[in-house]
Parts: sequence; structure tokens; C-alpha cells
Amino acid sequence: MGYKERVDWVEEYLGRVNLDKEVLDYYQGRSILVTGGAGAIGSNLIIALSKLVGKDGKVVVLDNLSALKEKDPFNVTPLPNIMFVLGDVRSDVDLKRVFKEDPTMVFHLAAFFANQNSVDYPEISAEVDVIGLIKLLEYSRLAGVEKFIYASSGCAIYGSYPKLPLKEDFISMHLTTPYQVNKMTGEMYCNFYHHHYELPIVNCRFFNSYGPGEVPGQYRNVIPNFIYWGMKGIALPITGTGEETRDFTYVMDLVQGLVKAGYHREAVGENFNLARGKEVKIKDVAEMVNRATGNPEPIYFLWRRRWDTKPRLLASIEKAEKLIKYTPLVDFDGGFEKNIEWFKDSWDKIEALADFPPGMSSAVRGAGSIRGAVERGATEFKD
Ligand SMILES: NC(=O)c1ccc[n+]([C@@H]2O[C@H](COP(=O)([O-])OP(=O)(O)OC[C@H]3O[C@@H](n4cnc5c(N)ncnc54)[C@H](O)[C@@H]3O)[C@@H](O)[C@H]2O)c1
Repeated sequence: MGYKERVDWVEEYLGRVNLDKEVLDYYQGRSILVTGGAGAIGSNLIIALSKLVGKDGKVVVLDNLSALKEKDPFNVTPLPNIMFVLGDVRSDVDLKRVFKEDPTMVFHLAAFFANQNSVDYPEISAEVDVIGLIKLLEYSRLAGVEKFIYASSGCAIYGSYPKLPLKEDFISMHLTTPYQVNKMTGEMYCNFYHHHYELPIVNCRFFNSYGPGEVPGQYRNVIPNFIYWGMKGIALPITGTGEETRDFTYVMDLVQGLVKAGYHREAVGENFNLARGKEVKIKDVAEMVNRATGNPEPIYFLWRRRWDTKPRLLASIEKAEKLIKYTPLVDFDGGFEKNIEWFKDSWDKIEALADFPPGMSSAVRGAGSIRGAVERGATEFKD
């Protein structure tokens, strides 16, 4: 899946969503800022927004490309109305630059991703995910933006011992990483800007994204890392029993939720889950990956990481269904197939940019048998 195929697939998906005319009119001609637009979710969102704003609008991407081994904006599809600015959400110089483009909407997706990264670097996690967010909120209110959509995390903020399916009114103080604390804090700051300044914010709580656009790496999610190891013929490490579940959500379904969240007035000041609303077991994912990549190596098991206290994740999506007419369209088999297709088509780039420095594996650190597991490629998986 090269650039053209990615654009075609996004357009085909948008066709299936069949957005109302009011939504299409709402986006037409806008200038929209997407922070983190070169990332796994953002790189798909910007293609969709590029199509929606049309030739009279523009999508401004602010991203420091810190999630990749090399600063290569290969995930930013070069469309005429997409403007890429290499910059940092903590920098006033960079923020002034992008706000000169007069955005009327901001999708704030930039983040120091994710749990283990924040355990390893707690100060940077707070600088990016809290201070960076506050700066964005300040610039947005001063610029009078019409919508500020915040990428929160349902995987992060519900804590360790909730009742399933996860509903929006559940609150937990049992957060186990700085990333989780900062994502929760982020929602609270968005709420503050809404109540105090009437900034029209929306808190979207994503669950376990996967799909084209996510480059594997030591701090990345389980699916891209499994596919990467599978394609290299490396045995897949499961940190746990494999019976653990996640509510894996195809990235374009999250994009659908973001686009609708940006439009619907009822969403302002609200928080809601964006997920598929189904559980998938980690061991089933590992088996699917080995089958799809022809990896003959046996799966092996490591201890669960200390902060990984959630044996199951399953979201209720009722609130988003009612509030913004959100409907996930892609089942796990279909999304998985597209993900494999993207890996195969983009393999040279993915291999060059995947960030796996030797000896940095969190899964392995927790497991004890550091040497053997590192040699087999074991590392971080999923929040
Ligand atoms: N992927 C998931 O499963 C998931 C789940 C819940 C919530 N989220 C949230 O959704 C958002 C997007 O997630 P993603 O998977 O696309 O992550 P990602 O890491 O792929 O994308 C984030 C982007 O932000 C950029 N970035 C990081 N620090 C920055 C900085 N200081 N200044 C500018 N850009 C910076 C990175 O280079 C990256 O391209 C994040 O806020 C994340 O916390 C993701």
C-alpha cells in the first residue's frame, strides 16, 4: 500500500461512512491543525481531512517525528493541501508558525507514546503530554478556534479494576504509569478550558488502535511489533498468558469518530469512548500473525510487565453511537488484512524506521531472562 493506495483506501472508507451533507459542508474549505499528524492515527486522519476540506482548505501538520528512528516524514502523504511543519508542541516558535495558518479546528494527537516510554522518561512525558497540551489550549483559545479535539485514551484512564464494558462515568485513581496519569490530566485541562473559557473541547477516548501507519518500535503496540517480528522470522513474545484481551479498533474507525466528534455540537464538553466494542485475545493475534507471515517460530511467554494490570479491555461505545452517530465498520479480520498489506508494501521503509535499540526491552526487563529474549527480539508491547 503506497501513497496512492492509502488515499484510495481512505476515500473508499469515507464513502462507506456516507457522511451527511451537513458534515461535508462543515469541513469544506477549513484550515485545520493536526498535531501528531505524522503518527499512526494522525497520518490516516490527515488524508481524510485533506479530502473533506477540499482544495480551498488546508491541513496543517505539526509533528517532531520523535516516534521514528530517523526524522523521515514518510507517513505524511504528500497531498497538495497538506502542509507539514517539523516542530514541537512545546515550542512557542513552532506553535506561532502553525497558528499563522489560522486554523479553525485543532485535532491534538501529539503525545509521548506510551506507557513504558513514560515509565522510562517521566519528565518528558509530562512536558509533552501536559505542558504541550496546555500550550495548545492557550493558543487555541487566543485564536478562537471553533473545536479542539483531544486524543485521550480509554486504555489509559480507566485504571486497573473497572467493570466491563468500560463506561465513561467510571473513574479510577489506580493509574499505573505517568502516561496514564498525563492522559487523565489532559482531559481535566480540556475540561478546565471548556468551563473557564468556553473553549469548545471534545475528549475522545481511543482504544487499542491498529492498522496502516503504525511503524513498529520498542515503545509501540503489540500488533505492529508482532507483524514486524513475524516478517523477520523472530519468535513472538507474549507478556502474560495470552488469554488477555484488548478492544482492538481499526484506525479508520477512530478517524471516523474524530471527524464526527469535530462536527457534532452535542459532543462539545463531552468525553466518550471510540472503540470497536469487541475483545480479541492476544494469543489469537499472535497465531494470526504467524500464519499471515509464515513465521515458523513458536510463541513464547514472559511475565506480565509490572504496570500492565489490565487482563481485559472492552469498551462500551453506546455514548459515541448516540452522541455522534459513531459506527465502527471494520472487523478484526478485515483490518488485520489491510495492516499486513501495508507492512508488505512499505516493508523497506518500515524496516529502516522501526526503532528497536538493543537491550531496551521492557517485556524482557520484567521477565528476567534478559539475554536470550533480547536476542530473540523481545521488547515492549501495547498499553
Ligand atoms: N495508538 C493507540 O492505541 C492509542 C490509544 C489511546 C490513545 N491514543 C492517543 O492517540 C494519539 C495518537 O496516537 P498514535 O498511536 O497515532 O501515536 P503516535 O506516536 O504514532 O503519534 C503521535 C505523534 O506525535 C508526535 N510527537 C511526539 N511528541 C511530539 C512533540 N513534542 N511535538 C510534536 N509532535 C510530537 C510523534 O512524532 C508522533 O508522530 C496520542 O495522543 C495517543 O496518546 C492512542
